Amino acid sequence: MSESISDCQLSIIVTGGASGIGAAVAELVLERGGYVGILDIDFTKCSTNLSSRKGRCAHVVASTLDQAAVSDAWSQMANALDRPINGLVNCAGVPPIPAPIETYEVSEWSRLLESHLTGTYIPCKVIGSELARLGRGAIVNLASVLAFRSGPVLAYGAAKSGVVSLTESLAVHWAKSGVRVNAVAPGWTETPFLRPPGRADRDLSPIIDATPQKRLLSPREIAEVIYFLLSDSSRAITGVTIPCDGGVIAGSGWAPYGGFDIFPSSSA
Ligand SMILES: NC(=O)c1ccc[n+]([C@@H]2O[C@H](COP(=O)([O-])OP(=O)(O)OC[C@H]3O[C@@H](n4cnc5c(N)ncnc54)[C@H](O)[C@@H]3O)[C@@H](O)[C@H]2O)c1
Repeated sequence: MSESISDCQLSIIVTGGASGIGAAVAELVLERGGYVGILDIDFTKCSTNLSSRKGRCAHVVASTLDQAAVSDAWSQMANALDRPINGLVNCAGVPPIPAPIETYEVSEWSRLLESHLTGTYIPCKVIGSELARLGRGAIVNLASVLAFRSGPVLAYGAAKSGVVSLTESLAVHWAKSGVRVNAVAPGWTETPFLRPPGRADRDLSPIIDATPQKRLLSPREIAEVIYFLLSDSSRAITGVTIPCDGGVIAGSGWAPYGGFDIFPSSSA
């Protein structure tokens, strides 16, 4: 029987790992004694102290949309970490801009689909195929509550529904190869994604109001669920998307009844 991942430590690649949820995943894996290769197009705002983790943390500047660059990054990171990679987390992606379909530019539609769907497909194709060849591994993709619920960010929701579908198809495709493929669907999480350039002063109170837990989620909370899906503790789970959303999906039917606070005593 092959060695389990909990026996030998995680050794993972995180796309988009210089910021937000990806950076939280990198920190958590490093804290727990694992190894991380970070692939990102922009390390200028990277919060992980890469140099202090020499030998356990490698990084490569590359785009998830460049298949050859992802392939090179895989080899570079496996060499730098000096061990086989056994996990992939796909966090890279650009924030969407809300607009009605009448004025929603085709270029914006393509940009979002490329960033979130193609940008998940290419690392899955390159790195997932390597994991399948090695006969073991776990992949976690980033979906969103907007994969399951409507919103004014058309291409973003469509791309994230695509990520859910891709996750299911690859999970079945690689099930016998020892590679598991799952996804998480975060609700609104406090990262730079919520306040992209030009929207730095965005009012986040409507988001907090729409979340039954009445708060933004932290990147660390999402990372904890991703860690579970990477580890052998979840070895029976493949092909699922786990909402990590503070109740957003469950709570969407309450609005017509007056919102979450119609029974004031129970919400105290
Ligand atoms: N923050 C939220 O509220 C939220 C909610 C649901 C889902 N998500 C998803 O979680 C993932 C991570 O989001 P985040 O909040 O950490 O965002 P973030 O903006 O903090 O980080 C995204 C990272 O991806 C990198 N990136 C973008 N395009 C890239 C490319 N082509 N190649 C390599 N790197 C690239 C950016 O440089 C950045 O470091 C995204 O897929 C996002 O859609 C976020």
